[in-house]
Amino acid sequence: MMVHKSSMAPFHTLAVLLWLRIAISAPAIAAGCERSCGGVEIPYPFGLDPNCALPGFNLSCNTTGDGKPYFVNVEVLSISLLAAQARMRMDISKECYNESSGLMNNGTNWWLDLSDTPYKLSDSGNRFTVIGCRTLAYIGASTPDDIGSSLTTGCVATCGQDGVASLTNGACSGIGCCQTAIPKGLQNYQVWFDDRFNTTSIYNLSRCSYAALVEASNFTFFANYATSSAFNDYYGGQAPLVLDWSIGNKTCNEAQKMPDYACVSSHSECFNSSSGLGYICNCSQGFHGNPYLKPEDPGSCKDIDECKDPKNYPCPGGECHNKPGGFNCTCPAGSRGNATIPGGCRNDFLTLKARVAIGASACVLAGLFGFLGWEVIRQKRSIKKQALLRQNDEFFQQHGGELLLEMMRAEGNVGFTIYDREEIEAATDNFSKMNIIGEGGQGTVYRAVLDGVVVAIKMCKEIDESRRKDFVQELVILCRVRHPNVVKLLGCCLQFEAPMLVYEFVRNKTLQELLDLQRSRRFHATLGTRLRIAAESAFALAHIHSLPHPILHGDVKPANILLAEGLVAKVSDFGCSTIDEKTQAVPKGTPGYLDPDYLLEYQLTAKNDVYSFGVILLELLTGKRPLSKERKSLTSMFQEAMVDGTLLELLDSDIVNEASMGVIHQAAVLASQCLVVPGSTRPTMRRVAEELRRLARADELQQYPQQPLVIESHSFMEIGSTCTTSLWYAGSNTTGVYSLENKVVQSTEFAR
Ligand SMILES: *[C@@H]1O[C@H](CO)[C@@H](O)[C@H](O)[C@H]1NC(C)=O
Ligand SMILES: *[C@@H]1O[C@H](CO)[C@@H](O)[C@H](O)[C@H]1NC(C)=O
Ligand SMILES: *[C@@H]1O[C@H](CO)[C@@H](O)[C@H](O)[C@H]1NC(C)=O
Ligand SMILES: *[C@@H]1O[C@H](CO)[C@@H](O)[C@H](O)[C@H]1NC(C)=O
Ligand SMILES: *[C@@H]1O[C@H](CO)[C@@H](O)[C@H](O)[C@H]1NC(C)=O
Ligand SMILES: *[C@@H]1O[C@H](CO)[C@@H](O)[C@H](O)[C@H]1NC(C)=O
Ligand SMILES: *[C@@H]1O[C@H](CO)[C@@H](O)[C@H](O)[C@H]1NC(C)=O
Ligand SMILES: *[C@@H]1O[C@H](CO)[C@@H](O)[C@H](O)[C@H]1NC(C)=O
Ligand SMILES: *[C@@H]1O[C@H](CO)[C@@H](O)[C@H](O)[C@H]1NC(C)=O
Ligand SMILES: *[C@@H]1O[C@H](CO)[C@@H](O)[C@H](O)[C@H]1NC(C)=O
Ligand SMILES: *[C@@H]1O[C@H](CO)[C@@H](O)[C@H](O)[C@H]1NC(C)=O
Ligand SMILES: *[C@@H]1O[C@H](CO)[C@@H](O)[C@H](O)[C@H]1NC(C)=O
Repeated sequence: MMVHKSSMAPFHTLAVLLWLRIAISAPAIAAGCERSCGGVEIPYPFGLDPNCALPGFNLSCNTTGDGKPYFVNVEVLSISLLAAQARMRMDISKECYNESSGLMNNGTNWWLDLSDTPYKLSDSGNRFTVIGCRTLAYIGASTPDDIGSSLTTGCVATCGQDGVASLTNGACSGIGCCQTAIPKGLQNYQVWFDDRFNTTSIYNLSRCSYAALVEASNFTFFANYATSSAFNDYYGGQAPLVLDWSIGNKTCNEAQKMPDYACVSSHSECFNSSSGLGYICNCSQGFHGNPYLKPEDPGSCKDIDECKDPKNYPCPGGECHNKPGGFNCTCPAGSRGNATIPGGCRNDFLTLKARVAIGASACVLAGLFGFLGWEVIRQKRSIKKQALLRQNDEFFQQHGGELLLEMMRAEGNVGFTIYDREEIEAATDNFSKMNIIGEGGQGTVYRAVLDGVVVAIKMCKEIDESRRKDFVQELVILCRVRHPNVVKLLGCCLQFEAPMLVYEFVRNKTLQELLDLQRSRRFHATLGTRLRIAAESAFALAHIHSLPHPILHGDVKPANILLAEGLVAKVSDFGCSTIDEKTQAVPKGTPGYLDPDYLLEYQLTAKNDVYSFGVILLELLTGKRPLSKERKSLTSMFQEAMVDGTLLELLDSDIVNEASMGVIHQAAVLASQCLVVPGSTRPTMRRVAEELRRLARADELQQYPQQPLVIESHSFMEIGSTCTTSLWYAGSNTTGVYSLENKVVQSTEFAR
């Protein structure tokens, strides 16, 4: 059976072809099986001959070549029965500067497909690792849970404005090196590079970029990796990769009833594989050996003779008796105590009377010590509490708490609360995992109840020393933002190591979830709804861009657009993200939405948000993901389609109809304007928002000509600290101005 997929682009691709022969015969282990190859132990169920292995666990020993074990054409480094893992060597993908074309297009991209094999890529053991000075590499895979769906994620490595000076040995944090985790249970992956970056100016500095899925514990970053071929050379072009393996695709309960159940040792137990389908076997407690071998085999699970291993099973003062599955360490006759600790056995000489007397005085002493002990504990506790308070104050100072208080005093009441550590701890149930509602690069979000109100509390990643003042300044600005399409910042707590931000809680889904539902056809959003959500998000971004002290978002993506009641868009994730973004040369944006301009300039501008927004607009129009396994980003597919006039093929069939084509085309033109590189000619967020509002209205009129009804959205003018909003009405209707204070703005649902 051929195991690789044929959908691969042949260009630049050296495929690792996997062929697997599944033995049909029942497993019967022939005598005289070779159990080692090239210094690697090959325990059953693995074997170097189909007769010596369980189906699918057949390896070959390259006796004519390097003498090493291979799984088809992938070298096997080691096999662990206990961890149910195998380590193999997988090729490192690379992309080098091509002098004749001035592009990064001279390289090899490897891919691996382990479908229908016992192996899965270990999510805990590996990290997708990218090395380079101006590179964005992607890893793509089909996920096992949802056939047809796919994972694509990426990782960006840059050398920042300071060039190689900022490279640090050991730190793989985006400068010259970046790492990202993969999901559980994957059986295939492929790697490719984004070729949009012009590296002409740095190729002397860093000629090649590298990317591979690498055993996390085996990798340490060295500064010269980013500027030479040292990474590739160190690993000889192939990096170690950890694979989880399991038997079959049934659970323990099902497998136990089958004739080919593999846990055949009489002292073995079955465990469901933690990485997906199938099970693994282990020897029972107190036994060691190979659980996959029959009891009569000498290698099968055998009792551990603990008495012969006093290092791990000490019995220094007593007599050791081995028992099946354990041991018994007793004090010699005539003594009692705990024989497992040195000097733990005491001679048993005391008479009953003496024991009673000693017992009585012991009671008195115990009482006295107990009282003293309690006093000491009380003292200690109060000292600890004071220390904690001091520490809280320290964090408060560190995060610029005084400055915040001062600013708040100067500003007057801004409707912003500074919460105490205890309040936050109580509200989140001590940061209970149960309350986590979101986890991302910027921090973790908890659902919490504060003063009887449901809120979302975000634990920021730590902030930079030099940015402290700006952080506080931005908090003050953010807390004054009152816009119906911006998630409201209610307060903060600065008494933790990392600042906590308290936001209004938005009950419903994110735009990301809506798009996923749409893709699987479990939800149908009309063009009007999509344009309205886009317009509302655009107005929110336009609003924060146009504040007297503009705020940039820096990580605009559907997962950061929350949808409230009636699918009203609320842009979230200001605060930690915006604050981090400007300090660091390393982009923290999300692959797929990240402006290529940013990688070149290392300077966040409003135009970066416009680009990311353009990608969202494309997603709304096409229903496609920004990154796909086809190795082409949605933006390049779109740009090609616009040039070739094949846009219709790319659009989401759900929204295409004759009446809407005019509006869709105009929206597509707007999206392409947002995606222009370089970014200086992109429209402002304000213009994008107004255009989208116009298009939404045009669509509304087209779809429902009899009812030229209400039109969205909210263009906000800030007058002092009071926000007012204008509501637009379609047709000849007037424009009304309402004060936010006495009228809650309602966004009208377009979807019908
Ligand atoms: C299984 O073993 C046979 C005989 O050594 C070999 O020809 C075949 O390639 C092996 N299959 C795998 C998947 O290694
Ligand atoms: C066996 O080793 C040689 C080099 O020593 C290598 O070229 C060949 O690819 C190896 N065989 C397999 C199956 O990988
Ligand atoms: C492609 O890369 C190789 C090294 O990986 C180099 O020797 C070769 O000159 C490059 N070709 C071009 C056209 O840049
Ligand atoms: C260099 O780029 C040109 C133009 O894209 C391409 O035809 C050529 O194959 C590339 N060279 C290598 C070695 O990849
Ligand atoms: C890359 O940038 C250089 C200037 O740094 C320019 O001369 C060259 O044409 C650009 N290459 C491409 C392929 O755009
Ligand atoms: C790279 O090095 C070559 C040869 O040393 C030199 O001719 C070229 O100008 C350099 N290019 C850049 C961009 O520094
Ligand atoms: C990484 O893996 C290789 C191959 O198994 C091994 O030789 C090397 O010692 C490992 N290095 C570390 C740091 O674990
Ligand atoms: C389980 O494995 C058997 C044989 O290996 C195969 O026929 C069957 O389709 C697999 N089932 C699933 C759910 O993968
Ligand atoms: C230890 O062995 C003694 C004698 O063999 C037995 O009486 C005792 O119950 C054993 N203790 C435990 C904990 O098994
Ligand atoms: C004896 O001491 C060991 C090590 O301190 C401890 O783990 C064990 O529980 C003790 N046994 C008894 C019976 O107190
Ligand atoms: C939004 O949340 C409310 C309350 O939980 C629910 O009734 C409503 O169906 C949700 N709407 C969507 C579109 O998810
Ligand atoms: C404007 O629209 C509102 C709401 O639909 C309606 O109540 C009002 O009568 C309209 N005014 C005019 C002048 O059409």
